[in-house]
Amino acid sequence: MIDLRSDTVTKPSEAMRKAMYDAEVGDDVFKEDPTVNKLEEYAAELLGKEAVLFVPSGVMGNQICLNVLTNPGDEVICERDAHIFNYESGSPAALSGIQLFPIKGKYGVITPEQVEPIIRPSSAYYMPQTKVIEVENTHNRASGAIWPIENIVSLKDLAKKYNLFYHLDGARIWNASVATRVSVKEYASHFDTISCCLSKGLGAPVGSIIAGTKDFIKKAYRVRKGWGGGMRQVGILAAAGLYALQNNTDRLIEDHEKAKFFAERINDNPNLKIDMKAVQTNILLFHPKTISVENGIKKCKEKGLLLSVGKIDLIRAVTHLDVSFDEVKKAADIIDDVFK
Ligand SMILES: Cc1ncc(COP(=O)(O)O)c(C=O)c1O
Repeated sequence: MIDLRSDTVTKPSEAMRKAMYDAEVGDDVFKEDPTVNKLEEYAAELLGKEAVLFVPSGVMGNQICLNVLTNPGDEVICERDAHIFNYESGSPAALSGIQLFPIKGKYGVITPEQVEPIIRPSSAYYMPQTKVIEVENTHNRASGAIWPIENIVSLKDLAKKYNLFYHLDGARIWNASVATRVSVKEYASHFDTISCCLSKGLGAPVGSIIAGTKDFIKKAYRVRKGWGGGMRQVGILAAAGLYALQNNTDRLIEDHEKAKFFAERINDNPNLKIDMKAVQTNILLFHPKTISVENGIKKCKEKGLLLSVGKIDLIRAVTHLDVSFDEVKKAADIIDDVFK
């Protein structure tokens, strides 16, 4: 099976498993796991932030950040297709008593012109209080599109003007970085808090990191524990994350090349529709014109290709480190066969 459902399906490589096997461990709840400490220090340096916390998942990372930055009754502005709005089980409301104000963007990008009018006046005690603006880069549901740095900066200026926090869901920030050559440190410098996944394109089996000031991480540490995310000899997993950061970031460019090739083949097929402008990193979404999304996915599976549902009417394919260029070529042949 060629599995293009997600970049989360990767399995740890031999070398990563070796790093996990060799990891020195201790009780991380006592802050005594040397490998977790090493990962957090290494990532803080990489992101140019005062401190980092290792967390079990991207969802927990985003939700801890939002929890620390807000109080119940507050509001977070985000794009309508944002992961925090669509795929985090309603946690902003359930875990933090906050609401989201989603607005429609273009390729996942929202502008100060859209955001400024919906910021709540702080004098209006009867309204929710706007506390955070959230950005997702790369943007999952916008086909992995990248936020241009000018847009990141202009929205940051607006956040500062209104004293709002600025949070980055950087689950795939290394994908953005290798594509634009804007460093992850530069991206992170514009945000108060950032959450990054180690278990997507970077290939670790589990884990995310969140970053911010020391004071923010101290509070985040408490929330993680309260939500049951305090882990013990978790250096075994941190070792995989550290290995991923040290070895698997630059190679993401290969995943982008594979995605581009696959997208071009899809674009050549008259029975499929794809927005080539959106294909900027490792995710692609395409519309089957002649059969339903479900049927298309089923037929591809019968021929050895796993795909997933993107949005209504759209099939999703994601390239990653466990799929070779040859397999992507085969996947393109299967697509042509199914959608002929
Ligand atoms: C943009 C984005 N943020 C956050 C997450 C959550 O990560 P996890 O599945 O590790 O909780 C994902 C997962 O796909 C994602 O795509």
